[in-house]
Formats: sequence, C-alpha cells, structure tokens
Amino acid sequence: MIVDIINKKRLGKELSYRELDYFFNGYLNGNIKDYQMSSLLMAICINGMTDEEIFALTKIFIDSGDILEFDDIPGIKVDKHSTGGIGDKTTLIIGPIVAACGIPVIKMSGRGLGYTGGTIDKLESIPGFKIKLTENQIRKQVREIGIALTGQTANLAPMDKVIYALRDVTGTVSSIPLIASSIMSKKIASGADKILIDIKVGRGALLSNREDAKKLSELMIKIGEVYHREVRTIISDMNTPLGYKVGNSLEVIEAVEVLRRKSVDSNLVDVCVELATEMVSMGKNISKKEALDLVNSVLDDGSAYKKFVELVNAQGGDLTKVSVSKKVKRIKSTSNGVIKKIDALELGKLSVALGAGRKSKEDKIDYTVGIKLHKHIGDEVKKGEVLATLYINDKSDCSEINNIFDIK
Ligand code: URA
Repeated sequence: MIVDIINKKRLGKELSYRELDYFFNGYLNGNIKDYQMSSLLMAICINGMTDEEIFALTKIFIDSGDILEFDDIPGIKVDKHSTGGIGDKTTLIIGPIVAACGIPVIKMSGRGLGYTGGTIDKLESIPGFKIKLTENQIRKQVREIGIALTGQTANLAPMDKVIYALRDVTGTVSSIPLIASSIMSKKIASGADKILIDIKVGRGALLSNREDAKKLSELMIKIGEVYHREVRTIISDMNTPLGYKVGNSLEVIEAVEVLRRKSVDSNLVDVCVELATEMVSMGKNISKKEALDLVNSVLDDGSAYKKFVELVNAQGGDLTKVSVSKKVKRIKSTSNGVIKKIDALELGKLSVALGAGRKSKEDKIDYTVGIKLHKHIGDEVKKGEVLATLYINDKSDCSEINNIFDIK
C-alpha cells in the first residue's frame, strides 16, 4: 500500500482522500518512515496535486490538531500571513495599526528558520515580553485592548509542523500545493474569519517568480472558499530587504520608528500600509480608499503607536530595555555610484552569520546583533561612505559581505 501510493503519485495520478489520510496520518503516528514520506513529498513536488488533493490535504492537516474559535469576541477577526522574507517586521507594525482601527487582532506567529526571521523571535527581543498565552489569556487581552501577538498554541495543525521540518531538509519546501495546504490549514485552524496572505517573490523568498505566486494565490483563495473564508492576497517583492534594519532588536526599533512616523519613506512602510489597508477593508467591510484613510489617520494621530505600547505592556515587555550590541563594524563603499541592488538573500545569510538567526532549530540567537542599512536602492554613494553598520558579537562571522551591494 505504501509503495503503491508513492508510485501512483510518481506516475502523476490523483490520490484519493483515503490514500492521503492513510499516508500522512501514518507518518504522524510513526508507521510511515521519513524516507517514505520524503519520497511522496518529492513526487508531489515534481508532479503537483489536483485541487481535490489539495483540499483533502488541507483538511487532513487541520484535523490533526485543535480548531480554535473566537466567535465570542465581537468583530470580524482578520488574520495575516507572510510567506516570509528578510527584514519582514510587518506584523509588529500592522497588528497595532489594525487594532487601533477597532478590528480585533489575534495573531499567532512562528520563529525564524533559514534566512527569514520570525515575529516571535523579534517580540522576544523585547525584555520580559511573554509570547506564550493560553487561549483564555488571549481572549481576555483581545477583549481588553483589542490585540494579542503570540506563539502558536501547541496543538494547531501539528501535522504541518512535522511535515514542514521534513520538507525543510528534503528540498520540497517550494512546492506550491504543499505551501498552500500548510499555510491555509494553520490559518483556518486558528479561527480567523478572513485571511490576508502576503506572498513574497524574489531572491529572499520561497518563490522566485510571479507566475508561481499567482498560482499560489489562486489556490489559497479556492481553499478559503471551501471553508467559507474570504481570502485576499498581495504579491510583494523580496529581492530587496524590507526597510533598513535586519536583526531582532533592530527590527523592533524600526517597527517603532514606522509606527511613530519617524520613518516614512521605505518599501517597508509601503508594504505595511498596503497590507493594513486590505485588513481594515476586510475587517470593516469598507472600500480600500476608506480603509487607507483610516490607516493613515491612526498612524498620524499616534494611536497605532500607543496600541503597540499597550500590547507590549500587556504581555509584560519593556520597550525601554530593547538593546543592540555595542560592538559594531562598518561596511564602506569601495566605489562611487548608485546602489542598483541590495541582495535580500545575501543579507539574510549575513544576518544568520552574525548570530541573528538559526542555522538549525537548536541554535540560540543573539537578539542584539544585526545589520542597519544606511543606504537603499537608488541612493548615490561616494567611495568610503558607510553603506551599513553591522552589530556583532564575538562569534559573529562578518566575511559574507561581498555580494550584498551592487553599485554602478
Ligand atoms: N510558510 C508556511 O507556513 N508554510 C509553508 O509551506 C511555507 C511558508
């Protein structure tokens, strides 16, 4: 049976719900081995899946754990997910904006793996910030202040956790059907009424071209229809890092700058405003124009920033204690010219080499290290001018800086 199922997929045939259920639950129970699951995942990666198979797999993932419900909290709950990128601190900014607009925000985030950072690691760089809340604590906090940002409660789509870990080491992460069922199962299980997905495309992302991003978008919208959830997507660039700061404490600091309108001109601000506008439009059932006005107003009048401070205080954090390493190294331009490219992937690799990310799940990260860009794409630079400051520790490896900037 096991080999028959693998062979069926290898030949590009459609697997039934029963076959998928048998195989995936068999893996979760330990009856199917890593090498057998890896083989099926690779066959899926190469031959794809039909819509029916994808709906079946999503259901199998959802049913592997708890399904949360927040129907007792008034208002439309809109959740947002990003497929991951370098310098992506959007959740820290959008959550408070949307909550300040009066829409309840319950956001469960993950840790970073690979070169992309995770919201939970960024939040933990705020001393005292508690990322583990029980379902009841989440409810209480959202009722009181309208927002909770937490780690995933233990039992949401546990199947996704084990399959994702295997995909990560078997070259099967970038399969569109697998990404769609992985993300949508978690979003549906976490009780969102409406879902916004930020699909990143480019060097620093899982997907490298827009066609694949469009396919993923269509699939996630279809899965949403099956579960009667409105799903919207935006496709955003990840060839270039988001904003000026990469690294956990540094990204919290940049999020605060955006919320306080101290940083108004960057690709980060643009993406945050676009995402927040979609969420507010969905959460309040209003036009995008009206939603954009609301988003700008809560940024301009300081209420989005105040909401962030309220959130941090409610979860025990102390923003005044966020710190970056005192030990720095500056990268200077070796020529005159204009910055044509800042390679997101290379910058992500550098941030991990400095100690801001994990090479394996067990690695401990240093919240205080990272990279601050002084220049962005399109800026003119002179030979000897500082392009970036690296915040480092004694173990940081600063050798991987050569392929980051393209200056012509
Ligand atoms: N993010 C997820 O949660 N799952 C994927 O498969 C890819 C990105």
